[in-house]
Amino acid sequence: MTTDKAALRNLAIDVLKENDQGDYTIPTKGLYPFQWNWDSCLTALGQAHFDEARAWQEIETLFAHQWPDGMVPHIVFHVYSDGYFPGPDVWDTKRPTATSGITQPAVAGFAVKRLFERAKDRALAEEKARLLLPKIDKWHDWFYRNRDPRGEGLVAILHPWEAGRDNSVDWDEAFERVPTDGITPYTRRDTQHADPAHRPTKAQYDRYLWLVEKFRSLGWDNTRLHDASPLQVIDPGFNAILLRACADLAALAETLGETAIAAANRARAEKGIAALDALWSDSHGLYLCKDRTTGRLIDSASLGGMLPALADIPASRAAAIARTIERWSAKVKFIVPSQDPDDPRFEAKRYWRGPVWLVTNYMIADGLAANGESAVAEQIRGSSLDLITQSGFAEYYDPITAEPCGGGRFTWTAAMVLEFLAEPTR
Ligand code: GLC
Repeated sequence: MTTDKAALRNLAIDVLKENDQGDYTIPTKGLYPFQWNWDSCLTALGQAHFDEARAWQEIETLFAHQWPDGMVPHIVFHVYSDGYFPGPDVWDTKRPTATSGITQPAVAGFAVKRLFERAKDRALAEEKARLLLPKIDKWHDWFYRNRDPRGEGLVAILHPWEAGRDNSVDWDEAFERVPTDGITPYTRRDTQHADPAHRPTKAQYDRYLWLVEKFRSLGWDNTRLHDASPLQVIDPGFNAILLRACADLAALAETLGETAIAAANRARAEKGIAALDALWSDSHGLYLCKDRTTGRLIDSASLGGMLPALADIPASRAAAIARTIERWSAKVKFIVPSQDPDDPRFEAKRYWRGPVWLVTNYMIADGLAANGESAVAEQIRGSSLDLITQSGFAEYYDPITAEPCGGGRFTWTAAMVLEFLAEPTR
């Protein structure tokens, strides 16, 4: 593919337009035919480069399907399609427009502040930010009420799909405790759209389904799900994104004179940042997940432990993360791989167990640049653009060969290209 910036930009815009359904965007045709939560928020950052109104619309549509308790679901099934499993009938959440019953990383606060700051149409930005502010605040409140019931300052994910890093090694150990008996027989659809060798195994899929059926049997009552779930993992990446979103929402609320929202989110961010440090691992040079059911850290060095670069962590921690990336980059050609390449569980092509994603690259690079680690941030940006020019707008890439994996013509990959092209990291 071309290395010419203007041409690359146009190709990225083509992908976004191709997947645009009018007021929401699908991640890619075939494999993911609905609206996904964090995909949409990050996609909006890309759309804003050519159509600000459309960017605001993307997030507004997502929040139109917020649950009455405050949760923003991970999938909104706007239009029925039988090409995806598990579909609306399996989730059976009984929402006016069908949605899944779990959530995804809370990037909305981060995305909205960024859209607001960059907006050329100031009146529109203020109108939309004011509209979204209380909704995002309600979602943040939902997280701490339902996923941190004992007030530790950190929230747990109850399903690997909530983390957005569906198949990561991080969940393997805790996942062992999830049973597979009694699940309704099913046919997967993902393996019809993508190479099965790149996708989760059947044993993993059975467990994904067991959790969905368990939560469904509890009527998707979020006040009951946390304690009833055999899987409760405190993911540093997931928490860091939420903490960054809290801090960003607080700043935005201050600008807009919403002092109560500002104070609540500032307090969440401060408490969480202090609690996050207990997840730091000196030997791995990154943060680790913690299994809330056992109280133990999970020995898996993944990029989830690097995402805290995005939050307000101590500069020494951010510097150590940058050194870890340098160490990993000696083992692969393209960064940032989703798992430590020295880990025997590393798999270069399998979903979240080794490959590179542009969205996580973007967030890590952004955080490192803000922490003065601009050389590593630039390396990540360079690697990301090299992958695109060699292999197109794929869902993810083999960090050794650059082979494009998963779905093609992928929306958030294209959105991140627009971000990387527009903004050399600070
Ligand atoms: C996969 C990813 C998830 C993403 C979704 C749509 O499930 O793991 O993070 O949101 O695809 O792109």
